[in-house]
Amino acid sequence: MDILSVIETKKQGQPLSREQIRFFVRGAADGTLPDYQLAALLMAIRLQGMNAQETADLTMEMAASGSMLKPDVSGVPVDKHSTGGVGDTTTLILAPLVAACGGKVLKMSGRGLGHTGGTVDKLESIRGMQVELPEDTFVSIVREVGCCVVGQSARLAPADKRLYALRDVTGTVDSIPLIASSILSKKFAAGASAIVLDVKTGSGALMPTLDRSIDLAKTMVDIGNLAGRKIIAVVSGMDEPLGSHVGNALEVKEAVDVLSGRTEGPLKEVSLFLGAQMLVASGVCENESEAQKQLDEALSSGRGLEKLKEMIRAQGGDSAICDDVTLLPKAPCIRPVYAKEAGWLAKVNGVALGMAAQQMGAGRATKEDAIDPAVGFVMEKRIGDWVDQGDVICILHAKDEASATETQEKILAALSFSPVPVPPARLIYALVTPEGVSNI
Ligand code: URA
Ligand code: CA
Repeated sequence: MDILSVIETKKQGQPLSREQIRFFVRGAADGTLPDYQLAALLMAIRLQGMNAQETADLTMEMAASGSMLKPDVSGVPVDKHSTGGVGDTTTLILAPLVAACGGKVLKMSGRGLGHTGGTVDKLESIRGMQVELPEDTFVSIVREVGCCVVGQSARLAPADKRLYALRDVTGTVDSIPLIASSILSKKFAAGASAIVLDVKTGSGALMPTLDRSIDLAKTMVDIGNLAGRKIIAVVSGMDEPLGSHVGNALEVKEAVDVLSGRTEGPLKEVSLFLGAQMLVASGVCENESEAQKQLDEALSSGRGLEKLKEMIRAQGGDSAICDDVTLLPKAPCIRPVYAKEAGWLAKVNGVALGMAAQQMGAGRATKEDAIDPAVGFVMEKRIGDWVDQGDVICILHAKDEASATETQEKILAALSFSPVPVPPARLIYALVTPEGVSNI
């Protein structure tokens, strides 16, 4: 086989065979194909698209380009993946809750990227917490505790690593078959047989419109059907940070607050919704209402919080933070931001808030940057809230006064007010299962 014929096939808009897909994926992983030919093929795929079978074949070939874990967790390994949110700490809430209900949560998470936070960075704000564990340790924690969250192993899906880096610099990121296969190849390689996807929609999401977000969700559910894995996708909004806390230690605190029953609201709601899908996808519960009931019980009994403690201890971390959140890293400069105008909070630029947190030190500008676990902010108002001039709109947790002042301006600029009432932002737009799409 030669790469020119593969490029030619796709350039003409014809479907690629499994053999053609295997040939270029192997060439990407082992370095035998040069960047320019892979880039030409990626652009042909971006412009001509791929059908469901090609997309599933690409996913499975990329998954098989490195090690494929077959974890024995005495149960159905279930994973959850978000396409990237701000103030989105659902993993730290749902992993222990699902485990407390008998699920086996095998979670490989990313680090923060651009304006979005990463679960692994958040966990590292807990003293002693190990997020790089040998595979057998990771699997045995999932088996015994029911959940473990670690960083993505570089040995999984190496073809995706190469192709993703090329896509990033050739204008070929925004392709549904390329995004879907990229995300799922890593999940398949990590050994999940049930996967719940949180596909974000809105400004700052991978797909800008609701229709395209639902298409991406459908494509991933279809790959699951063709690959024999159970996939459920939830399409959720990212019009404002999901929780009120943005920043690594702050988001751990908020997760503990939710698990302790101290905090209600959208973060809890979306975590329970995704958790219920995980219990259904992995077959632990027969239907969503049974799953909701079990999750509510795990939360109100405190068993979810106990599970989080167990997981933190198993990963070497200081679980005392679950009883006393003041043990988490604390920023030296904590101060409020006051509203300069009155009105209903109408719009929140989530990307701008995510970027503001990153620039405070909560995220990285380059891969090598260190993270300051303590910094970030807590929003005191949500879309739809009435705000008086002089109300506290947000509490900053900054490394110094200069950073606080700079961030304050960015946060105020990210908010718009309306003289007439505005409804709260929608949280969940659609649920996509093998049975179809339901709007919520
Ligand atoms: N995340 C991924 O892992 N891959 C993509 O293509 C986009 C987002
Ligand atoms: Ca996330």
